Amino acid sequence: MRLLVLLALAACAEERDRPDAGATGARVHPLGILDTASDEFHGKELARQDYDFGVCAKCHGDQLDGGTAKVSCTSCHPGGATACTTCHQDGPKTSAHLAHRTGGVACAECHRVPSVWDDEGHIRSGGKADPAPAEVTFGTRAGGAAMFDGGRCSGVACHGATLAAGGGTNTAPRWTDTGISGACTACHAAPPPSHPQGTQSPCASCHPTGASHIDGTVEYATSCNGGCHGSAASAAPPRDLAGNTSTTALGVGAHQVHLNPTSGLRGPIACTTCHAVPSSVTSPGHLDTTTPAEVVAALGWDRASATCTTSYCHGPARPVWTQQGGATCGSCHGLPPATPSHDASMPLSSCVTCHSQWNQHLDGDVDVD
Ligand code: HEC
Ligand code: HEC
Ligand code: HEC
Ligand code: HEC
Ligand code: HEC
Ligand code: HEC
Ligand code: HEC
Ligand code: HEC
Ligand code: HEC
Repeated sequence: MRLLVLLALAACAEERDRPDAGATGARVHPLGILDTASDEFHGKELARQDYDFGVCAKCHGDQLDGGTAKVSCTSCHPGGATACTTCHQDGPKTSAHLAHRTGGVACAECHRVPSVWDDEGHIRSGGKADPAPAEVTFGTRAGGAAMFDGGRCSGVACHGATLAAGGGTNTAPRWTDTGISGACTACHAAPPPSHPQGTQSPCASCHPTGASHIDGTVEYATSCNGGCHGSAASAAPPRDLAGNTSTTALGVGAHQVHLNPTSGLRGPIACTTCHAVPSSVTSPGHLDTTTPAEVVAALGWDRASATCTTSYCHGPARPVWTQQGGATCGSCHGLPPATPSHDASMPLSSCVTCHSQWNQHLDGDVDVD
């Protein structure tokens, strides 16, 4: 488009090289009429004329297509002199315009966009040229608190200013500043202060990626089952927060055999046995604490050796959370135990004679008839 205009300009400039032009002083317009750098440039003249194209129409014709001047505006402006592109080309490249265009931010997110060039308040107000600067009127994406003042955008949702605890370093950027960092941390810390600050899980394990970014709403998984961890069938890993599914990963470990014991040694063990269970994703103590996940103190969870050091469940045996190897009678206590009530000759079949409440096995109480 621009190339076409320039080509057309070259053609017109040659045409203008008539022997009588300039020399005779017969020209209607000053020499700078076509020079964008000159004060006499016809764009600037139009502004001085309060964008009243009627002034030009007197000589260039009602349709600006020649008239008595025999110079048609459309010879250089094929789209018409009042087309949006005649004055804006494909959009301004000043200040942060280009960066926002690259980011797909529409004009309407920051300006009231006129439907026709002579909409009131665009370039004319009350029949006069609308004085600079251009009005900044935010659209919905910037949020209700958005302000453009002193050359800065403040309170704009887009730059993280309205996040609850975003922690960004440049949430009120100046429009004319160049070289602003597009780093994640400009708008919000990565992760924000509301998140576990220890070993970091990929953002994508809890947040969708793509088009929903900087749309004004924080999107995150709200389902316990498989949102950030676990699966549709279970809130517990696998998958752990880092995406691991193998039982050799600390985050996965022996979760499922505790939740659904297949051994028949006891019924399911609830999350609450080992964790304080949050009532919602945003409950205090859930996301806002340093990783790794907290385990109920009474169990004496020792991360380094990956075992519970004080849980009653395993007796003196201290199985490793990340090792598999089915527990059998005898892995947690003797068969029978070496206490005075037993003697080594007691067979497995004898246990039930004194311990008939087998259904209360592994509940923390020794049940003896
Ligand atoms: C009084 C009659 C008259 C009016 C009013 C007028 N023009 Fe012109 N215009 C001419 C004539 C005649 C030419 C041919 C070149 C010349 O004589 O300067 C021309 C040529 C032009 C050219 C081409 C210049 C070149 O050197 O090729 C432009 C651009 C132009 N006019 C823009 C405008 C604009 C914009 C307006 C309204 C603000 C306007 N004119 C108002 C008579 C007029
Ligand atoms: C000889 C070619 C030529 C003619 C004829 C011409 N223009 Fe232009 N016009 C230009 C050029 C070159 C520009 C600057 C384009 C740019 O900046 O990319 C321009 C820019 C403009 C602009 C944009 C001004 C701005 O500030 O961005 C308007 C409006 C305009 N012309 C109106 C007219 C009107 C009205 C006429 C007829 C009266 C006319 N032009 C005739 C070449 C012409
Ligand atoms: C004759 C030239 C011209 C035409 C044609 C034109 N604009 Fe503009 N536009 C301007 C100027 C000059 C400004 C800056 C106004 C100011 O400083 O207040 C502007 C400002 C704007 C703004 C910023 C908000 C505002 O109103 O200040 C938008 C958005 C815009 N134009 C869109 C458009 C669209 C869309 C069209 C076509 C329907 C269009 N313009 C046609 C010259 C033009
Ligand atoms: C992210 C917000 C944003 C977007 C998107 C945006 N603008 Fe602007 N625009 C501004 C700001 C801020 C100014 C400067 C206002 C001031 O100086 O007071 C401005 C100024 C302008 C001006 C005045 C001249 C200039 O270059 O400074 C025009 C014309 C304009 N915008 C048109 C547009 C058009 C057309 C689009 C879409 C292609 C657009 N803007 C997209 C924020 C935006
Ligand atoms: C374990 C799940 C999880 C992970 C991993 C995670 N987030 Fe979040 N994030 C959330 C939840 C839930 C919220 C909404 C509640 C809140 O603000 O604490 C949230 C909120 C946010 C917010 C809005 C903060 C605010 O103050 O409103 C931003 C920004 C964010 N996350 C960015 C990130 C980034 C960047 C990463 C990766 C470095 C990340 N998140 C990793 C779960 C997570
Ligand atoms: C221009 C500011 C800005 C930059 C730069 C930025 N973000 Fe964000 N981000 C936001 C805003 C604002 C939110 C709040 C939610 C929204 O509007 O989508 C957000 C939310 C998020 C979220 C939560 C999910 C969501 O979209 O709601 C994640 C994850 C995230 N950002 C990751 C990143 C990463 C990773 C980077 C760097 C590659 C990054 N962001 C760079 C502004 C930014
Ligand atoms: C038998 C005890 C036990 C039970 C029952 C249990 N967990 Fe865990 N959980 C752990 C241990 C041990 C860890 C690893 C802690 C560490 O990394 O230091 C853990 C870690 C986690 C983690 C963090 C994983 C990661 O990637 O770091 C999540 C999430 C979790 N459990 C959810 C659940 C849920 C949901 C339930 C119930 C459906 C549940 N747990 C039941 C012991 C248990
Ligand atoms: C995971 C460790 C573990 C395994 C494996 C285990 N037990 Fe136990 N058992 C316990 C604990 C702990 C107690 C202490 C009392 C309680 O919590 O029920 C116990 C208690 C008992 C008692 C006493 C009665 C009672 O329930 O209090 C009997 C009998 C018993 N176990 C038999 C068995 C038999 C038979 C097997 C194999 C089928 C077995 N145990 C496997 C941990 C285990
Ligand atoms: C003659 C009755 C009798 C038989 C048979 C018997 N027990 Fe016991 N058992 C007891 C009594 C009484 C206690 C409580 C006192 C004690 O801890 O010695 C007990 C306690 C236990 C305890 C808890 C030990 C502790 O250290 O707290 C376990 C475990 C146990 N029995 C397992 C077994 C197993 C396994 C068998 C079968 C191989 C078995 N018992 C057979 C009477 C019996």
